[in-house]
Amino acid sequence: MPARCRLIGFGESPPALRVEDFELPRAGPGEVELRMLAAPINPADLNVIQGTYGELPHLPATMGNEGCGVIVACGKGCDLQVGQMVLPLSGGAWAEAMVVPVEAVVLLPAGLDPFQAAMLAVNPATAWLMIHKFQSLMRGSWIVQNAANSGVGRAVIGIARHLGLRTLNVVRRPELVEELLGLGGDVVVTEEIDFRKEVESLCGGARPVLALNAVGGASALNLANALADGGFHVTYGAMGRQPLKIPNGLLIFRDLQFRGFWLRRWRDTTPVPEVHALYQALAELLQAGLFKTPVGPVYPLSQVARAVEEASSRNQSGKVMLDFSCAESPADGRIKP
Ligand SMILES: NC(=O)c1ccc[n+]([C@@H]2O[C@H](COP(=O)([O-])OP(=O)(O)OC[C@H]3O[C@@H](n4cnc5c(N)ncnc54)[C@H](OP(=O)(O)O)[C@@H]3O)[C@@H](O)[C@H]2O)c1
Repeated sequence: MPARCRLIGFGESPPALRVEDFELPRAGPGEVELRMLAAPINPADLNVIQGTYGELPHLPATMGNEGCGVIVACGKGCDLQVGQMVLPLSGGAWAEAMVVPVEAVVLLPAGLDPFQAAMLAVNPATAWLMIHKFQSLMRGSWIVQNAANSGVGRAVIGIARHLGLRTLNVVRRPELVEELLGLGGDVVVTEEIDFRKEVESLCGGARPVLALNAVGGASALNLANALADGGFHVTYGAMGRQPLKIPNGLLIFRDLQFRGFWLRRWRDTTPVPEVHALYQALAELLQAGLFKTPVGPVYPLSQVARAVEEASSRNQSGKVMLDFSCAESPADGRIKP
């Protein structure tokens, strides 16, 4: 029987996770059975475990907001083929197997790295949509973002470069500056920068028209101070756990537009073919090497509690991943460091 990771209560120490075997139903008409390959542990998963996410499941619930798998059986009426790699969009990705409706899987091009494919559905999509949804950006327009080393931030750098946009990137660790410049970030600075004084010299006399905020607090305000009049400031994460405090003048005299973005809302309100089209386009960009998320320690499903603990306390690059192809627990818990 396959195994899955269930959340049985909210709260973080220790996380209330249970790995259990379960009876997998056969794929019925219009359904496919997947063998899952890999799944990341994202900040949103940690927030669900803590009970602080924007939408919480009824418990017990199978964890995991994204991952990738391979089709092992097709129910009647499915035109997909066994062996194809897919993204399930149904949630519950921390499982060795699942049965999902065919309209909830996106076909991936052959040859994608399963770990990278497993991280396609959330962060690159968020980056793409935030770049396209709020402002009509022209070639050469500047985007400013914090948490630039995050999965979303790296995808923003790659996609922006592909579109001829420029990025002003803020990181909290100086050792990341060179690395993100190497990935194609136009300017990379640390959190100590004061954009009120420096933004125009950093951007060659221009100002960003779009700010992407995943931190909050003083960092979010610094991004706002960098924006051109009428610019959009989009909050999509709260890694610093500090609220936004916006001076009145930024609204009155500078006409800044403060908005939020939540991928879940986009998925829930967008026609299925449009959702699939975006993921297929992103899969091609991934295959073309436009963005890549560093992989951190990799754990088998049996060690998911340790993996979650590591993801919660991690202060280095690299997503903590689950690898479903390894059923055995290595002695130290991790498959790969
Ligand atoms: N709204 C949405 O639909 C949506 C979709 C996707 C992601 N998100 C959110 O976007 C954020 C990033 O997600 P991800 O998966 O891309 O992240 P990730 O790859 O796991 O990286 C986390 C990032 O947060 C930074 N960070 C952590 N704590 C911080 C702090 N106290 N102050 C400043 N920076 C801090 C880290 O800095 P270092 O680089 O120095 O380690 C790292 O760059 C999360 O808040 C996530 O929930 C939201």
